[in-house]
Amino acid sequence: MQRLTNKRIILGITGGIAAYKSAELTRFYKSAGADVRIVMTHAATQFITSLTLQALSGNTVHTSLLDPEAEAGMGHIELARWADIIVIAPASADFMARLESGMANDLLTTLCLATDAPLVLAPAMNQAMWRSAHTQKNLKLLEQRDITFWGPASGEQACGDVGPGRMLEPIDIALLTAQRFSNLSLSGKTVHITAGPTREAIDPVRYISNHSSGKMGYAIAQAAIEAGAKVKIISGPVNIPCPDRVDCVQVESADQMLAAVLTDIDECDIFIGCAAVADFKPAVLADNKLKKGTSATMTLELVKNPDIVATVAARSNKPFTVGFAAETQNLLEHARAKLSSKNLDLIAANDVANAETGFNADSNALTLISADDQQHLALTSKTKLAQQLVAHIAELVNR
Ligand code: C5P
Repeated sequence: MQRLTNKRIILGITGGIAAYKSAELTRFYKSAGADVRIVMTHAATQFITSLTLQALSGNTVHTSLLDPEAEAGMGHIELARWADIIVIAPASADFMARLESGMANDLLTTLCLATDAPLVLAPAMNQAMWRSAHTQKNLKLLEQRDITFWGPASGEQACGDVGPGRMLEPIDIALLTAQRFSNLSLSGKTVHITAGPTREAIDPVRYISNHSSGKMGYAIAQAAIEAGAKVKIISGPVNIPCPDRVDCVQVESADQMLAAVLTDIDECDIFIGCAAVADFKPAVLADNKLKKGTSATMTLELVKNPDIVATVAARSNKPFTVGFAAETQNLLEHARAKLSSKNLDLIAANDVANAETGFNADSNALTLISADDQQHLALTSKTKLAQQLVAHIAELVNR
């Protein structure tokens, strides 16, 4: 069920006695860490109250297509785009018929038409209704449109009949939902990424820093989220908003970054050191603004900062640790030396002398080096490159 962490699930509920089981399904999804939004048809509200489902999901329940208040919160198209999956449980015979005919006469059918997310139906109805030629025809046509059916199960029904038409048990639907996400390469993994520059204060108004924009680290975070991971960025000062679904911790100095990294390092499966951490910091932080005085020169004593990625990689239960080597000369040689001196599992060598692959660029090229492998990722956008890097990391981690 770990695979449901952070997943966005729309649980559609239609009118049937099995609707009471949707409350338990909501609890399973929530306790697995999913974000659940409930959409009920009018008939469903006759079987279970929206208040119950609101309390269990922690979100407002959506019931109407033409509700200005709900549209102001999260409009129906936004909701359709938001979902990673739409599960309709229970799905009634009427709902199957409306979905098959392409109707959009309530919120749930409209969402199903508007979404790109996978659609799954867990049917529940009387056995004769399930066996009817109409329902069986709808089933076939919906399956041809890549809509998945889970169940129904056979057995005793609320009406006293025995036969196919029982909704699958909530735990089985929750497990099947988790399985749907199992092909995501980083499902169930926790990824922590350092990004951006650090600022090393000289006095209350001045600092030493570098040109790192944070773009690469934030792009990797986005790619890791898309691969199904739970992601945290520990970031120095940058001008990029925190990506959706990522936990962002803002820091300034290398010392603060190290402290934030170590807070929950034991939860981390993959650590990616993408930050351009300042190598040195002023030996003394002046309490007051330093005055220029009359001397033509000024000397600032610097001391080494802690090496964050090496500190992580030195732990006995270290996560899979990835570093970056930003170099202006002898790129691969320096990168290989860092792979071994910092005890990394993988290093991404980055030529920062080239304007197209440098600190502030939107594009990049990387050479990925591990103990027994070397692969070049050609020049492309940082977004695409981050996806390739994440795919490479997932392959090594899942090997
Ligand atoms: O030694 P160098 O700074 O070239 O190493 C770069 C790699 O080490 C990057 O992954 C960077 O994030 C990490 N690093 C670090 N802490 C430092 C210096 C570098 O985590 N103090």
